[in-house]
Amino acid sequence: ADPVERAIEAFEAGEPVLIHDAADREGETDLIYPAGAVTPAAVARLRNDAGGLVCVAVSDAVARAFDLPFAREVIDHPVASGETLSYGDRSSFSLTVNHRDTYTGITDDDRSTTITALSRAASAPDEFDFAAEFRAPGHVHLLRGAPGLLTDRRGHTELGLALAAAAERPPAVVVCEMLDDSGGALSPADARAYADHNDLVYVEGSRLVDRFDGS
Ligand code: 5RP
Ligand code: CA
Ligand code: ZN
Repeated sequence: ADPVERAIEAFEAGEPVLIHDAADREGETDLIYPAGAVTPAAVARLRNDAGGLVCVAVSDAVARAFDLPFAREVIDHPVASGETLSYGDRSSFSLTVNHRDTYTGITDDDRSTTITALSRAASAPDEFDFAAEFRAPGHVHLLRGAPGLLTDRRGHTELGLALAAAAERPPAVVVCEMLDDSGGALSPADARAYADHNDLVYVEGSRLVDRFDGS
């Protein structure tokens, strides 16, 4: 079947998918879960099998509801000067957070607690007191999606959020880069092989853009 359809079905079932952004962008494949489906075992898979930075992307609407800024706009230090990343995009990093019920914040249990609570928050932002539930700084990096998703920006942030929307999941997804044993980005061929071996869906970002960019 079509990889986009299979990716939507995987998200509906709470399973992760692998998304490669584009060879002329990062050229990275992220392992991406609907945040509400994350368990401690899923966090272990993210750090052991993916190995990159574990982040939760939320939609622009959710970020606005909770006053979650872009990090580049609130870091009052010269390190935050300069506009774009090496491949020309702007960073989607927001704050880092922990759920207030966590201990250190880094264990699989703690990160799973923070991540699933972020999904609940994203599902009903009007009914949620963000600062009462979370503290910053923490061990889960928040990413803020572009308002028009793939029309505005085509990072894993937006690719994952577009998939969550299609699967009618709350606008909160966990993303983590797949790295290889020598520390570089896992190649698309190896990412595909990992997906096949683990019965997961691998999809090219361009396929998601073709389907979901309404512009
Ligand atoms: C956070 C990142 C990753 O690249 C992540 O995929 C989100 O960024 P983007 O939307 O730019 O792809 O830098 O670890
Ligand atoms: Ca990146
Ligand atoms: Zn990325």
